[in-house]
Amino acid sequence: MSSSTRTPLIAGNWKMHKTIADAEAFIGALLPRLSSVETVDVGICPSYLALQAMVDSTRGSRVRVYAQNMHYADEGAFTGEVSAQMLSEIEVGGVVLGHSERRQLFGETDKALALKVPKALAAGFEPILCVGETEEERERGDTERKLRHQIQEDLAKVPEERLAEVVIAYEPIWAIGTGLTASPEQAQEACAFVRALVGQRSQDAAERVRVLYGGSVKADNAAELLALPDVDGALVGGASLEAEPFAAIVAAAGA
Ligand code: 13P
Repeated sequence: MSSSTRTPLIAGNWKMHKTIADAEAFIGALLPRLSSVETVDVGICPSYLALQAMVDSTRGSRVRVYAQNMHYADEGAFTGEVSAQMLSEIEVGGVVLGHSERRQLFGETDKALALKVPKALAAGFEPILCVGETEEERERGDTERKLRHQIQEDLAKVPEERLAEVVIAYEPIWAIGTGLTASPEQAQEACAFVRALVGQRSQDAAERVRVLYGGSVKADNAAELLALPDVDGALVGGASLEAEPFAAIVAAAGA
């Protein structure tokens, strides 16, 4: 399947890194480095506290700001949570949902994600839904089963005509923060499988949906991964914390 009609997206997931001051310094260094790249969508995913500052600092640029999580309810007794309405008010452009760290460390469930993804779309956000297998699941031969389960459950309540607006990030858990990157064959196979799963609901959506790879993407391996036919961009952790390597990954996507 040709990727030529899909605009690549490079998003930096900062996780629990960067104060507001750190984030401001980063964006000051990043924006001038993006001026020559016109064919790539760029995203940053700061902590909640830095969202407003980043929305203000990136206004008018090609950088979109994503939250790292969101509750599915409009409001209520959910201590420590943030709603779509609250994020809308500060003009956030999207939200990362179902990152493996949220699933593994904070009990994020597919049941909650099935409510969060349509809620994000209804609020006008671009959701980046993360899916991926553990090392054990890959070794057992359960990668496809895991991906099928996550995609079917998490997108169950997304209407067919809006499926293509969801970005899906394939992030094998064994490759996150480990320096182990999926081989190009593994990344291509899994991202093509994710696309085929979307195709079971809508062929048109499968052709348009952006599938990202995430897991130890660096400036020196990005070009190879981003050239794969079913990889439409990257969700970058560690290498998104400094402007220079992150800009190099963006440049690789635009090459
Ligand atoms: P690393 O790039 O640090 O492996 O993190 C990937 C990730 O989890 C992005 O969401």
